[in-house]
Amino acid sequence: MSRFEKLCSSDLLKTFERKSLLRAFPGKKQFEIDNFADNENIYGPSPSVMVSIQNSLTAISHYPDAEALPLKQKLSEFLAIPEKNIVIGNGAMDLIRQILICAGEPNQNVLLSKGSFIQFKVACEILNFSFKEVDLNNSQVDLKEIAENIDKDTRFVFFSNPNNPTGTVVGRQTIKEFLEKVPDETYVIIDEAYIEYTDSYPENSALSFLQDHRNLIVLRSFSKIFGLPGLRIGYALLNSEFASCLNKVLVPFSVNCIAQTAALAALEDLPHIEGIREENFIERRWLFEKLKNLGLQVQPSQANFLFVGVHPLNEKTVFEVLKDHGVLVKSLTGYGFSNHHRISILDRKRNEKLIEAYKKALRQLGFDK
Ligand SMILES: Cc1ncc(COP(=O)(O)O)c(C=O)c1O
Repeated sequence: MSRFEKLCSSDLLKTFERKSLLRAFPGKKQFEIDNFADNENIYGPSPSVMVSIQNSLTAISHYPDAEALPLKQKLSEFLAIPEKNIVIGNGAMDLIRQILICAGEPNQNVLLSKGSFIQFKVACEILNFSFKEVDLNNSQVDLKEIAENIDKDTRFVFFSNPNNPTGTVVGRQTIKEFLEKVPDETYVIIDEAYIEYTDSYPENSALSFLQDHRNLIVLRSFSKIFGLPGLRIGYALLNSEFASCLNKVLVPFSVNCIAQTAALAALEDLPHIEGIREENFIERRWLFEKLKNLGLQVQPSQANFLFVGVHPLNEKTVFEVLKDHGVLVKSLTGYGFSNHHRISILDRKRNEKLIEAYKKALRQLGFDK
């Protein structure tokens, strides 16, 4: 089978094919949909980000800064990491693919955690890397088991911390012990897209291990707590040699000038981020209790989403009824969880609407707690 035929007929790619949300809610504008599926930050970016975007509109008639230097300088100061160890990309998802392109070898494999961020798997499928998935242990990424599955041909290990979709966190000590076991030739990519939402942030970040582990790559995103998913911007923190190679591999000018300006302004208003973290913490606790009171199985989360079990119901059935009530949650059958949804934590008004929709759906489906 040719590569083209393989990609065209891939079940995995078909399951995660891009589809406009407007198809599910005809007649609505995207921002009018009660979207509990994409882990967006409902409060959006800082107001000063909006001002900086307006002030920078004249820049669009020029190519953007090729390496987003002012932003890189700001990130270097913010994270206390040298500029040479930072690469800015067109979102963390773009960086996942570019890292594979940069350092992958044809006969090597990738180790993933089962039921983890699906784009790791999608990137492997597209770039023709074989991957192996290790089971979660009690909804947690199982680093002990992953370490045991690394073989001489394992080039990359990917996992997200907090884990998407379960919202669990692997602690600092466990990460440290894991990194000590991984051979130097195997890159470990820890996707920290949601790390700012964790209770003990920045304690569980792997950033401080970068200096001792040249094979560690940490990914971050401006799409979550910084509220800029529509602008597509994220960054990788990694050893300077890999960073320099990655910079050569990235699609030229892939980070647009508005995204660069907005991300810089977002880093200048950290109290805004602090406020979002606090709101998320309050709403996470509220939603957790309300969903549990409905008789659903809810996993304690450290992120801006909850992993919700609807057992013994089939999640797709519940998903469709919720949609009829105007609420879009994340269906997880494609992730391997046929009795679970992932729901984003939004504001109180929308969270109340979600609870009402679940109540109606469960009643309609004869669910009896
Ligand atoms: C674990 C994880 N990493 C990365 C992303 C996306 O990041 P970006 O928007 O920067 O590509 C997501 C989005 O849902 C995610 O869940």
